Amino acid sequence: MNAVAHEQLLRPLEEFTRLHLDTLRRFGGRALDLSFPNPQFLSDPRPYDVLATLAAQARPLDLRYSPFGGFTPVRRRVAAALAKQHGLPYAWSDIVMTPGATAALRVALNSLFSPPDRIILVTPCWMDYPLYLQDLGLAFDLVPTTGDKHIDVEAIAKAWTPETRGVVIAQPGSPTGVIHDAAELQQLAALMRRHSTPTPPLLIADEAHAQQVWDQTPCPAPAAHYPHTLTVRSFGKAWDMQGQRTGCLAVSPHLGIRHQAIEHLVRTMRVTGHCAPTALTQQLAATLSDTAPDLTGLAGLQGHARQRLLHHGVIPLDTHATRFLYARCPVPDDRAFTSQLAERGVLVMPSSLFHETGWFRIALNFGTPELDRALDIIGEEYIRA
Ligand SMILES: Cc1ncc(COP(=O)(O)O)c(C=O)c1O
Repeated sequence: MNAVAHEQLLRPLEEFTRLHLDTLRRFGGRALDLSFPNPQFLSDPRPYDVLATLAAQARPLDLRYSPFGGFTPVRRRVAAALAKQHGLPYAWSDIVMTPGATAALRVALNSLFSPPDRIILVTPCWMDYPLYLQDLGLAFDLVPTTGDKHIDVEAIAKAWTPETRGVVIAQPGSPTGVIHDAAELQQLAALMRRHSTPTPPLLIADEAHAQQVWDQTPCPAPAAHYPHTLTVRSFGKAWDMQGQRTGCLAVSPHLGIRHQAIEHLVRTMRVTGHCAPTALTQQLAATLSDTAPDLTGLAGLQGHARQRLLHHGVIPLDTHATRFLYARCPVPDDRAFTSQLAERGVLVMPSSLFHETGWFRIALNFGTPELDRALDIIGEEYIRA
């Protein structure tokens, strides 16, 4: 690990972790933690029921070693479910089971790129993409989204260099919750096709939150618009069981280097010591892969929280996915504003952790009346700042 190079990226994350811990210690049970997405209520109890059944019925061979990449029947079931969702003919071998989207991202970046490749990251973005790229010695260019947090294809075109070999986007956006529509994805695909020599650039589509669309808004799959796509999924996020560490990578059946990519991904799992998720967790993911989580409770909470914030003059982005709300801070320094909230026992995340400044993210971790108390404090401090 290059500790000096990582310092700049790790320091803000560690500072926030310290603020988080200090605030929890200081306020104890009165702390209102809307920072890391760790919901305190069950939107849908099915993962717990399925896990209990699997554990009760487990025999020794159900707990056996899993091959790197995952058990074939599990991969087959996940491939069939994703084929329906994406409208693409995934085979079982196109799926690589990973301990969360975190490992999937790291393994994908590790397998598919090497210096002097450059990667475009669309910001705001998930906090650790730059860290992984830096650790792999890969250069990256941060390209901001438009004002309403949609993909700015013109800005990506301007940032493109002869070394650019990949683009990472999240669909839906994280931390924003913005869904990128088909027109946006088509424009991005057209741009990437224009740069397809000597080899087509790769699109990493981080769909960690794809099953967290809480209204009827369509959420098109980037892989359906651009053939050279690797999709990252998180069963942990979909089913509020992040600690079970379960996700997968899906190689598009239309990827030019499909077979080399699969072989390389599975090898990288071994080389980096990333095992597949635990045996029962894979069974759990396979069982749940055919169904969508019930998000009725989340939808209600989103509507309620938005009303309450608007009442205080705080205008969150108008979005349809994730358990997040994303809003502009009243001052340019997002860390100062989130520290001000922490002084009142309310924890939210500053956008600089997501590689843009001036915004904050709320994770809907609990319902009323605690949520209302937290939102009212956010409203009061918003006016005071
Ligand atoms: C966009 C995005 N990608 C990846 C991850 C990591 O997901 P997992 O918990 O499955 O490792 C997250 C987690 O919040 C995320 O928001």
